[in-house]
Amino acid sequence: MNDMTSVANPKTPTLPDAQTVQSVTHWTDRLFSFRVSRPASLRFRSGEFVMIGLLKDDGKPLLRAYSIASPAWDDELEFYSIKVQDGPLTSRLQHIQPGDQIILRPKPVGTLVHDALLPGNRLWFFSTGTGIAPFASLIREPQTYEDYDQVILTHTCRDVAELEYGRQLVEHVKSDEMMRELTEGGVDKLVYYPTTTREESPKMGRITDLLRSGEVFRDLGIDGITPGTDRAMVCGSLGLNNDLKEILEGFGLREGANSDPAEYVVEKAFVG
Ligand code: A2P
Repeated sequence: MNDMTSVANPKTPTLPDAQTVQSVTHWTDRLFSFRVSRPASLRFRSGEFVMIGLLKDDGKPLLRAYSIASPAWDDELEFYSIKVQDGPLTSRLQHIQPGDQIILRPKPVGTLVHDALLPGNRLWFFSTGTGIAPFASLIREPQTYEDYDQVILTHTCRDVAELEYGRQLVEHVKSDEMMRELTEGGVDKLVYYPTTTREESPKMGRITDLLRSGEVFRDLGIDGITPGTDRAMVCGSLGLNNDLKEILEGFGLREGANSDPAEYVVEKAFVG
């Protein structure tokens, strides 16, 4: 027997459920995104999340829930993450390089999916920080534009640099020829509403305050949110999620689920 046959190819996955890092982008000292190979068997609905992670020194996997930021039709999987300097996973994950391997459990789940909402005319995506990740998937999903006349993505971050991932994504979605073809020009329905809370920018304030005061409606030329026309998906910190639930319920929207679709759905932005 030729000895060479027993020599492992360094590129061959060796971890359980291993996927190979394709590219990494560092947006700020707190935020990065990365793309990994997609398991051939993985099917998911845009907006869902999976467990990903790394092996610990003791050989056991350390996994966290991450929304898939890429759409269901993409060959690769994209993730958007915070860097927590003493965080068990992200303190190490932030150092991954192309060619490295991560663990990815191919069992997608989540409530930020079209199936959990009843039909409507206008769809709101409310996000803070890395909570934009599931919407990065959904604004690249053709069904989003087939099902709605208008799609509004709001993203609130502390400062302008933290908006950059979303800003570039929206710019790409609106200008990319393939996205235009894939959605039959549906991307023109997408409205982007970025706000900052701790650095000067054209629109300042928490989205919750801007909704309560009605400023967001005046800015967008919309009468308001009503259960007859509006649907919403929310992804951010626990505080944001709770505050928005109260606001949306105040407008008469009810929380939906996969098994019981209604007018809005919520999911916590996981890591961080
Ligand atoms: P703020 O600066 O007023 O706390 P973080 O980086 O801490 O995850 O926060 C991301 C963004 O979410 C920040 O702009 C923050 O505003 C905002 N935010 C935090 N909690 C809430 C909340 N309960 N409602 C609305 N926005 C919130």
